[in-house]
Parts: sequence; structure tokens; C-alpha cells
Amino acid sequence: MAIIETKDLTKIYTIGRKRTVVGLDHLTLEIEEGELFGILGPNGSGKTTCLKLLLGTLFPTSGEAYIMGKTPYDVSMKKEVGFLPENPYYYEYLTGRELLIFYGKLFDMDKDALNEKIEELLNLVGLHNTQKLSLRHYSKGMLERIGLAASLINDPKILILDEPTTGLDPIGCRDTRNLLIQLKEMGKTILLSSHFLSEVERVCSRIAILHRGLLLALGRLDELMSKYKSSNLEDLFVKTINEYDEKIKSQGVAQ
Ligand SMILES: Nc1ncnc2c1ncn2[C@@H]1O[C@H](COP(=O)(O)OP(=O)(O)OP(=O)(O)O)[C@@H](O)[C@H]1O
Ligand SMILES: [Mg+2]
Repeated sequence: MAIIETKDLTKIYTIGRKRTVVGLDHLTLEIEEGELFGILGPNGSGKTTCLKLLLGTLFPTSGEAYIMGKTPYDVSMKKEVGFLPENPYYYEYLTGRELLIFYGKLFDMDKDALNEKIEELLNLVGLHNTQKLSLRHYSKGMLERIGLAASLINDPKILILDEPTTGLDPIGCRDTRNLLIQLKEMGKTILLSSHFLSEVERVCSRIAILHRGLLLALGRLDELMSKYKSSNLEDLFVKTINEYDEKIKSQGVAQ
């Protein structure tokens, strides 16, 4: 059974009284346990919408979403999921350690277990030495890493990460990449949205490419690359999007 599943998942946003915007258009997807799966797509293609629908922070217009066979509104499911949002906002006067304590308390963790987990996570994300520094003095890369640690506080089976390498320098990207590989080896299922195609190419076994809310490509990287006769993910990405745009344009001209 798939650990993450969507069936015809659709979100139409309503702006004002009449205007509507398609966020996600009938997405059907299955992700297996232990996969490191990448959701790609240009700006506004529906990546964040998809992740928020899975997490239950957005209601779908139609369709279904399941995590471990449960709907996004089932509280027992939330214990198994860690989430790193696209633009996280943290209380900047908390230290790195205090932030992790805050998140641990949200999960009702007892003091000893929480302290043990915090030690483990600070070491994992390489922030042990800066745990007493307040977050307003953290660099972008450090904030991204403490966010990742916070998303792991409840030892979730599933990690949903919305652009975890945004704003990171090449070393930060490499560190996050290695961390993701390590987490996958620990048995986590990871669903990640990203614009960093070279990073995705290195870590993800399967990908989905979204465009205007539609799923344009889904599958193993090697299979998709041979299907689209591409030697790298960037080429595959551009070809998929251009092919769709050309098709729409020619249909428009034909009408
Ligand atoms: N709250 C909202 N109200 C109205 N429209 C929205 C809302 N959130 C997203 N949208 C629209 O839905 C579409 C998909 O947006 P979404 O944020 O899911 O894209 P994305 O792929 O995550 O983009 P990015 O790469 O820029 O993060 C866009 O057209 C966007 O303008
Ligand atoms: Mg987004």
C-alpha cells in the first residue's frame, strides 16, 4: 500500500467573488514507503498547494488525499509527519535549542526524551555549537537546518519539505542533500518540493513535474530521461514544460 496517496486531488482558489485560480488539477499520485520523492514545477505550478492539501492545512475542492491510509484531518496521522514550510517564521528571540523545546512540547514529549532527541538532532544538523544563539543571529542556512531539526522532533515516518534548500549556498545545499540521504537510509519517506534540479537529480528516485496545477510527468528519473531523450533533469524539465505550452498554444491557434 502507498504511504502517501492522492486521487484526483483538486484545489480551485476563489479570489474575491468571481475570479478563480487553479491551484491543483486532478492530481493522482502514489508514493511508496522509504521513497525520496521530488515534486518539481515552475513557480505557481501547484507544489505548495499539493503539500498543504496533504497536510490538511488546505481543504480540497474535490478529490482525496491519504497519508498512511488516513485522511489529512485524522489527528493520529499528524504524529507521523514532519513538515518544513516554504517560508518558515520562527520567534527570533528564541535560541535554536529553545525552538526545538517549543516544538517538542507541542508533541507532549517528556523532558528526558525531548533532551535526548534535541542532542541527537542538533548533532545531525550540525548546530550543536550554536544552540544557545538566538535565531535572529542565525544565517539562512542555519535557519533552514534548525527548521529541518524541528520537523524531525517527533521522529516522524514521513517528512514533507517545501523547498528545503532555498537560499542556501552550495555547501549548505550539499549538507542538506547529505542529510536527506541519511534520513532516507534511516527509513524515512521524504516528499520534497524543489527548484534545485541538480540536487533533486542526485537524491530523488522518482519525481513528478507539475505545471499549471497539472501533472505532466511522473516516474523514475532514468525512465523519464530516456522517454524524453534527455541527459539531465534540467533538459527533461524544460522539454516537458515547453511541450505542454506548445500543445496548448497550437490548440488555441486551431480554435
Ligand atoms: N491562497 C491562495 N489564494 C489564491 N491563489 C493561490 C493561493 N495560494 C496559491 N495560489 C495560486 O495557486 C497556484 C499554485 O500556487 P502554489 O503556491 O501551489 O505554487 P508553487 O508551485 O508552490 O510555486 P512556487 O514555486 O513559487 O513556490 C498559483 O497560481 C498561485 O497564485
Ligand atoms: Mg511553493
